[in-house]
Order: sequence, then structure tokens, then C-alpha cells
Amino acid sequence: MKAVACLAVALSAAVSLSVAAQQAERPRINPADLPGRQVFAAQCAPCHGAGRGDDGSHSLPGTEALARKYAGALPGELERRSDLPAPLLRLFVRRGAGAMPAFRPSELTDAEIVAIADYLAATAQRSR
Ligand code: HEC
Repeated sequence: MKAVACLAVALSAAVSLSVAAQQAERPRINPADLPGRQVFAAQCAPCHGAGRGDDGSHSLPGTEALARKYAGALPGELERRSDLPAPLLRLFVRRGAGAMPAFRPSELTDAEIVAIADYLAATAQRSR
């Protein structure tokens, strides 16, 4: 399990460097136009959205868990993360992570994971 976590962190670091390089040349994209927005809203936002509960506390277990996990080093909201390219996102989504269930290909296709990754890259770029 530790080895998997190390691999994920190393992969994340390596890929985010190449993502950063690509983003420098890419024109800004409006995330609202991307098909991944719908998929994220339906499948991920109930746990990973950016909102708060009525009492001001996070009502979103994914956002809350990630904010706690990274303690300010990375944002809790996936839509502000620029370090989750499709191959790494697929790893988390297919395996599940802690309280997060794994998604099977019959529930979420590889193409939909790529679409979510594109959407997250665009929203992260916008939130900078
Ligand atoms: C039922 C709630 C729930 C749903 C639905 C859910 N997640 Fe999660 N997700 C979590 C929780 C909780 C964690 C934190 C797990 C942990 O403790 O490390 C997490 C962690 C992650 C991580 C790991 C990030 C990191 O840096 O450790 C990624 C990536 C992720 N989710 C992506 C997604 C995507 C994409 C979707 C939609 C396809 C999704 N999740 C749907 C609850 C959820």
C-alpha cells in the first residue's frame, strides 16, 4: 500500500511537470464548454464539489478528506488541482481511495475519465 502511494506521488510529480509545460502553450479553455463538466457534476461533485454545508462546515466528504490529507499543500477541491492528468486520475477512480468507491468501466468509461481530467485541468488553470 505504501509502495502504491509512493508510486502515485512520484507519477503525480512527473506528470504535473509535463502538464505544466503543456499548459504554458495552450490557449485558455472555458471549462463550462467541456463534456467532462457534466460527468464530474453527476459522478464526483457530490463528494468533491467546492461548496459548504448550511452550517458552514464542509458537507462534501471528498473535499474535506483531501483538504485534511494535504493540510494546505494542495487544495481540497479537485477542480483546483492541476496535478491529476488522466492516467493518474484513472488509477484513483478504478481503485477507489479510502472512503471513495472504485468505479467500474460499466459505471464510468475510460473516455469519461479522460473527459473529467480535461475538465479538471481547465478549471485548475482558471482558478490560478
Ligand atoms: C462517495 C464520495 C466520493 C465520490 C462519489 C467520489 N469520490 Fe473521490 N474521494 C472521496 C474521498 C473521501 C477521497 C479521499 C480518500 C482518502 O482518504 O485519501 C477521495 C479521493 C479522490 C482522489 C485522490 C486525490 C488525492 O490526491 O489523494 C481522486 C483523484 C478522486 N477522489 C477523484 C474522484 C473522481 C474523478 C470522482 C468521480 C468520478 C470521485 N472521486 C468520486 C470520495 C468520493
